[in-house]
This record gives sequence, C-alpha cells and structure tokens, in this order.
Amino acid sequence: MHTIDFPSSYSSIPDPADLATLSQTTEIERSFLVNVAQHEFTGVGEIVDFGTFLGGSTYLLGMGLERNKRLSHAEKIARIHAFGMFGEDNAKRIFDADLVTQILGGPIKEDICVFEKVVDRYRSLINLYAGDICEIEWIGRPIEIGHIDIAKTLEVWKRTWAIIARHYIPGSTILIHQDFKSITLPWLTYGLELILPYVRVIRQIADGSLYFKIVDPIPDDLQTKIVTDDFTLEERIERIERMEASLEQQCTVIGRQFPDATIGKTAFCQYWFGDREEARRILEPYKARHAKFFRHFFERD
Ligand SMILES: C[S@@+](CC[C@H](N)C(=O)[O-])C[C@H]1O[C@@H](n2cnc3c(N)ncnc32)[C@H](O)[C@@H]1O
Repeated sequence: MHTIDFPSSYSSIPDPADLATLSQTTEIERSFLVNVAQHEFTGVGEIVDFGTFLGGSTYLLGMGLERNKRLSHAEKIARIHAFGMFGEDNAKRIFDADLVTQILGGPIKEDICVFEKVVDRYRSLINLYAGDICEIEWIGRPIEIGHIDIAKTLEVWKRTWAIIARHYIPGSTILIHQDFKSITLPWLTYGLELILPYVRVIRQIADGSLYFKIVDPIPDDLQTKIVTDDFTLEERIERIERMEASLEQQCTVIGRQFPDATIGKTAFCQYWFGDREEARRILEPYKARHAKFFRHFFERD
C-alpha cells in the first residue's frame, strides 16, 4: 500500500458549531471536507457528495469551495453535486430536537426543506439530485472529489462505483469512503483492496473512513469486478485480510467500529455471500459486548 500525507492543518477547522452540526460526519471528516474543497480542488472535474442526508456534508464542501482561491466565483457555480433521498422529520430523529430548532430557527419537518436551509449560503455552488441514485443519470463530467456516504447496500455501492469508474481522473481524483469501518458493509474493503496499486491512501486521517487519491488508471477488468461485485467468497475474505493487515502496517489509525475488523468483515462476507450459521459462529464470542454492531442481522432468519 502506498500512502501520502496531507498537511496536518487539515485536521482542524474553525468551530463547526453551526449548520454543519446537522451532519453525521465526525469533526475530522468535517475538517477534511472543507480542506479538500478549499485546497485540493483545481476545477479539472466536479465535486460529488454521494449521500447528503440533510445537507451537512454538502454545506462543508460548499464552505471549502467558497474559500478556494484558485477558482473565480463564476467557476465555482454548480460544481458541487449532491445525491440524496429525502423523507420527513429525520433532523429530529437523528439530532437533538432543541438543537435542530435552534439551528434551523424553527420547526421544519420535510428533510428537503432542512437541506435547503442548511445549504442556503452556498446554494449557487450546488446541484441537487433528489431520488434513488440507481435511477438517476450522472451528467457525465469527470469527478475530481467524491465523498461517498451513500453505499449502505451492495446495489448502491455498485451503482456509485459504476459512476466513479467511468469518470475518475487518474492523478487527480480524491475519494473519501465513509463506512469503511462498518463490518456489515464488507464490499468496501475487498473492493478497494483490489485497486490499492493505483491509489495513494491518505495516511493521517482517521475516524473509520478511507481517504485516497487515484494516481494511475485502474484497469478495466478490475473496475468491472467492483461494479459487478464479481468475487468468490474466498477472494472476498482474502482481500479483507490483506487490506486490514496493510492498513495496520501503513496507516497511523483508520478507526474501528468493532474490536477486530478482519473477523467482523469476514463474518459479514459469510452472512451476505456464504453461510449465515458460520457468520453467527464467528461472531458468537463478541455477542455479549459488541452485539450492537450486528444484533439485528442475527434476529433475521
Ligand atoms: C449517512 S447519510 C449521509 C450523511 C451526510 N453525508 C451528512 O453529512 O450527514 C446517507 C445518505 O445516503 C442517501 N442514500 C442512501 N441510499 C440512496 C440511494 N439509493 N439513492 C440516493 N441516496 C441514497 C440517504 O438518503 C442519505 O442522504
């Protein structure tokens, strides 16, 4: 695994105790989103927020893009593209109700209205794609920065990577993969292991997301493997073992959701693609202390 370091100043931003609070990102992730749009974005491609929820991450990218000194204001218009599905009352379900009312200046039920309120200041920089990404066409422009916080199912992961695979820019594209830590979504780990020779992992960033720059063209057959999720069970597990061992050696911290990422992700490869009884057997010793990460899967048949 090859790594690069970004400036250490990237891990601190001014107090985000404002609209960015309505984001499910951590402080480190927020900081990175602002800094990457401010300092790394050259305009050679677009910024894509795959999974905006209530607009928090999009707002942070907007903050960074507005501060970006390379581009004129005109060049920044509609350069951030945000994907998301919107429902009702999620702000109050996820965040503290008083805080939400205080930040939004009153009660707002519809998520889309919360989104509009959150991103208002940077709205001219943003294109919104509301609806299922599996049914929305990407506009076809190259992608320079991608924040992927949408891949909660295998189908959406495949769709998201189908868009990225056709539009990344070797030498430029920076991707932030949220959910890397999640043991229930093992496709991120074995899929991204496959393309490690073509990327530089950004080292000092943590909090369970994987950040990297694509430095070389990724061969078509590897892209197709990810986009079609064409892996045997054994290959999925081997790639997870290699990826986790490699991260352990090379990265300071990636952040963990579960005490042993390799074991947890192996169990979920068994759960999704192999033998559910075997998944239960692997996770049995963790049940007493860590069941919150997998309990609901084990209550199903
Ligand atoms: C964890 S939230 C994103 C959090 C957000 N980045 C933030 O800063 O708070 C996941 C987002 O992915 C979106 N999503 C999940 N599946 C989707 C799909 N098939 N199409 C479009 N959006 C989807 C959800 O609507 C939600 O906005």
